[in-house]
Amino acid sequence: MNPAGSRHLVFVGLMGSGKTTVGKRCAEALDRAFIDTDQLVEAGSAQTVAELFGAVGEDGFRTVERQAVADACASPVPIVISCGGGAVLDSDNRRHLQSSGCVVWLHAPARVLAERIGSTSARPLLANGNPEITLERLSTLRAGTYAAVAEMTIDTNELGVDEVVRRVLDEFARVE
Ligand code: S3P
Repeated sequence: MNPAGSRHLVFVGLMGSGKTTVGKRCAEALDRAFIDTDQLVEAGSAQTVAELFGAVGEDGFRTVERQAVADACASPVPIVISCGGGAVLDSDNRRHLQSSGCVVWLHAPARVLAERIGSTSARPLLANGNPEITLERLSTLRAGTYAAVAEMTIDTNELGVDEVVRRVLDEFARVE
């Protein structure tokens, strides 16, 4: 575990919640490196997330994702980590994230997430059916897990990116 005062800053939440955008901005402000677990997965497998889902299915993707989360959390210097939306479903991932970082849940209603996402081509879980209905279902399934793993929850529904970043950094400075 990183010593107090040097924890990772970790973003969790559904697809479209702003984890990557907000995470990058927070990393710049904190002068830290930024890691997106989906990008680690893609770099390690030399495939896009969508290609990996197609080749090995969701279970196979989750196995690669578990290693990506462990690798990100093992960084000896504190960084900012944005997790794929389903990473928190795995108990090893939750343990690593909570023991090494301050976990922030970026929350928004399914309708807002679907609007923000737009094209679903890079997101295999939204490839079939109505994205808003799928996001609603995932939200119902996962909300309890996000809430349990997070130390901080930001409702991003009515907020622009600048305001979300400001709130996260203020709160992070307070709890660090
Ligand atoms: C997933 C979210 C995606 C990606 C994969 C599965 C999920 O990441 O990991 O398509 O299960 O919610 P983002 O949340 O960054 O889009």
